[in-house]
Parts: sequence; structure tokens; C-alpha cells
Amino acid sequence: MNTDIKKLYDAEPDSPLYVAINRVLVRNDPNLMRMMKQASSKMCLATALTPGFKGFDLMKQLGACPMGMRWGASTDMGEQLSHIWIDQITYWDSVEAHENFHETFEDVVVDTCAKCGDVLLEGPEEPVFRVVHSDLPKLVSMNQWLKKNAAGQTRGYAVDSGETVTVMATHRVRPGKEAEFEAGEIATMDMLKESPGMLGFQILKRIGLSTLGSGHATVESMLDDLKDSSGSKLQRTAEVWEGYTLPAEYLVMVEWESLGYAQGNMPHVNVKPELLFIHGPQVLNNCLHMPNVRMADSMFREETYREILTTSAMAAPNGSVTGTR
Ligand SMILES: [Fe+2]
Repeated sequence: MNTDIKKLYDAEPDSPLYVAINRVLVRNDPNLMRMMKQASSKMCLATALTPGFKGFDLMKQLGACPMGMRWGASTDMGEQLSHIWIDQITYWDSVEAHENFHETFEDVVVDTCAKCGDVLLEGPEEPVFRVVHSDLPKLVSMNQWLKKNAAGQTRGYAVDSGETVTVMATHRVRPGKEAEFEAGEIATMDMLKESPGMLGFQILKRIGLSTLGSGHATVESMLDDLKDSSGSKLQRTAEVWEGYTLPAEYLVMVEWESLGYAQGNMPHVNVKPELLFIHGPQVLNNCLHMPNVRMADSMFREETYREILTTSAMAAPNGSVTGTR
């Protein structure tokens, strides 16, 4: 079984960047933003100092999409939810660069996580993804956009409304139907861009898991660390590829200028005929369950990764961010 998973991992196309998403379910505390900033300032610096780091987005859940008869859901449940998901998304040159961060700065990470223990319900769990397709503009101010427009250089940029939200949809796909799903989702999202307020989208495929990033290490290394933390190193329980999943898991991220635009226009995938005729047979029919769709907004971000992904998209003959071995 392990051999098969390793083969599948090795067969995945090269990606222009790799994405680690550290997920925690935490108490929906009004002071969460302040707590997160205080707790993570040292970790952000350590991350930025690691070779191969290319940007981040720290996202918090706002609500859930009331699709698939989930009428108890609402896109804005910031006041009602007792606990919310935080997605700490980091972008890297390679899978190894991210692992290197956790090995080098394990003490900083452990200290930081311990500060949030009081509000933590589930996690951390840190799956690793490759970029299947990315079409996210770098967000700039109106003045910057006007300058770029005058110079005829607006491609890859959009005006930052200051209230962007991201729809985060998790899809589990029938084995063997991955290529059809990917093509159908890309075509659907390209057409959805005609809907007002849509800024862009990104499709990620899970290819593994970082056990050190998930706060998990071998019992022996934890015992050694307890005895004397000065020289010991925490050891991962598994390699990243051992977290490869079959059925495949995809995260589709769709960015909107505002919550109102997202609420009003994301459902076009299911009600606008030309979208539904692609999204129905190629996306939904190839899923094992209705997608789980969360709404999130950014607490803090650094968008170097968008410039890199846009540049690599321009270099690709079909304008998409894909690669082959
Ligand atoms: Fe990480």
C-alpha cells in the first residue's frame, strides 16, 4: 500500500510552488486577532527567514455556504459560531523547504502553539498541496492600479477592496476522475469570472502531510526533548508523502471583492445554465460527497506568491500554472 502511495506522490507533476495549510479549530474569541498576532510574531519572522519561503495568508472562517440543503449554514456566522477554523497558509519553493522550516525552528513553533492552547479544540493538522491552477491577482491600492493602468501593465493585478473574502471548497474526487474534475473545475471558474466581484481562483491538490507541522513527533524524540531540549531534535513520525490521500482531495479557493458579491454570485456554478452544464457532470458527478464550502477572510497576508504564480502562468504556453515531470 505504501509503495503505491509513494508512486502516486512521485508521479504528481512539479508545481511552481507548494502550499502548506496549517489548520486549527479555535474558540471564536473576539480578541482572537490580537492573540494570534501576539503569539505568531516570532513565528512569522522565523518563517520569513527560511530559504524557499514565498508568502503567506492567515485566514479565519466567517461562515459556511448554505448549499446542498445545509440551511443551518450562513456565509456570515462570525457572531454565532462557538469555534472557527483558522487556515495558516504558507507558500514554498519545495516541500523540503517547508520541512526545513519546522526542523530549524521547532522551538519557536512549539512555544507559539503553546500560547494558543487555551482556545484550541482541534488541530494543528498541516496538509501539503501542489498548485493545480492559479489565477489570483496581486491586490494593490487604487493609486497603484491607476499607475499600472497608465503603463499598460495591469495583468496580474486588481484593486484591493479592503473587504475581500475567499470561498474555500473541499472536494473529494472519484479515483481515476481527477483529470476530468480538474478540467471541469478550471472551465467553470474561468466562466464564473464573468460574475461581478470575482477576483480570481486557485485549485490545490493535497499531496501529503507535514507531521512536524501538525505538532506530531516520535515518542522517543519527545521524551529526549523533555529530558534536555538544548541538543535534541523532534523527529517526524512519517514522511510528507505518507499523507498522500486517495481519494484525492482538492481545495478550490475563490476570491471575491466582498462578502455580498460572494453570497450573490458563487451560486452561479449551480444555477447559471452554461456553468451548470460543465460543473454538474464534470465536477459534482465526480465528487464523492457535496463539497464542504467555508467562507473565510484574511487576517494578515503577504502576496509574493501571487507574483511568482502569475509569472509562471505567463511563461506557460496555455497560460495556466501547471507542470509535468
Ligand atoms: Fe508549517
